[in-house]
Amino acid sequence: MNKLLNTILRKEKNSVPPVWIMRQAGRYLPEYREVRSGVSNFLEMCYTPKLASEVTLQPIRRFGFDGAIIFSDILVIPDALGVKVEFVKNEGPKLGEYNLKDLKTSNIKSHLNPVFEALELTKSKLSPETALIGFSGAPWTLACYMIEKGGSKNFEKVREAALHDPQSFSHLIEILTQSIIEYLSLQIQAGADVVKLFDSWASVLPPFELQKWVIDPTKKIVYEIKKLHPNIPVICFPRAIGVNYLEFVKQVGCDVVALDQSVDRNWARKNLQQDCGAIVQGNLDNLLLAFGSKKEIEKEVLDVLEKFGDQPFIFNLGHGIIPQTPIENVQLVLDLIRKK
Ligand code: CP3
Repeated sequence: MNKLLNTILRKEKNSVPPVWIMRQAGRYLPEYREVRSGVSNFLEMCYTPKLASEVTLQPIRRFGFDGAIIFSDILVIPDALGVKVEFVKNEGPKLGEYNLKDLKTSNIKSHLNPVFEALELTKSKLSPETALIGFSGAPWTLACYMIEKGGSKNFEKVREAALHDPQSFSHLIEILTQSIIEYLSLQIQAGADVVKLFDSWASVLPPFELQKWVIDPTKKIVYEIKKLHPNIPVICFPRAIGVNYLEFVKQVGCDVVALDQSVDRNWARKNLQQDCGAIVQGNLDNLLLAFGSKKEIEKEVLDVLEKFGDQPFIFNLGHGIIPQTPIENVQLVLDLIRKK
């Protein structure tokens, strides 16, 4: 029995819901830091199937999560398109210049082959009870990194590009959309049971542009993936878009919507779960998990279970676990969910 898949595909309700956490393979785990310390370059780790598969499996062995998200990064797509991508220690990602017309759109399959190999290897080692999760960045968020040349505080460059030259910007979004469809489809062929689209910076856009650069392209990706792989669920994470989650869910056609920690649970229960029949994933605060007291964590975990638990749902954080998070806090969350 695969609890995560049954929750999504059969809308199964569980007294103990399926659970996994964003960035579950990462620096809060000593066994991850050990593997990481042997590799100089983060992308090299993503592109070495044995290592990527090993760190994907680490949190499954330790915690028995219901989903294993393949270890990689959203920035492998710009990398495959020929944009220089570097991870600078303590500074985050840095991306190089590019010309739209020089992007290597035919390179997705060959350049990202190590990711597909990592998926195949992981699948062969994973119990059928654990769902293998593939993922990609969504077009808008990838465009943010490509135009800002890395992370950003105010997103002025990408907003300016979209408003000043919507034609070129739309061309970039279309290139990314097609690359993402191809990439996710190849991940599914390599064994992914579920795929997730991360739109981490969706909240930067006002509603009229959210429609154009987030909802429309995401809808196209979900439609194409469903056409090619009707039984593979798609999870979408348009992070921090507030009440616009409702419009997103109504239009996009995803199987699951992932909620960040700012979403009011009573609002989501009424508007998304009850009125739209949506399956939600979320939304324990990742920083509470890192810095909160055991008592505060317990209260919030029980609140998530109480508000979302009478419909099929997937327990997760509202954003990725951070390196400072004590491992005992993760174990506490699992014990509370599993009623130990
Ligand atoms: O969830 C998982 O365990 C799978 C692996 C995964 C990583 N990145 C590994 C990673 C996933 C799903 C991502 C997605 C990702 N990457 C997103 C979307 C989700 C989100 O957080 O909003 C984004 C925006 C990125 C881009 C990115 N990658 C940044 C900004 C950074 C640097 C920040 C940091 O924590 O250092 C990364 C690097 C990165 N990706 C790390 C990991 C484990 C840390 C690098 C290291 O181990 O040295």
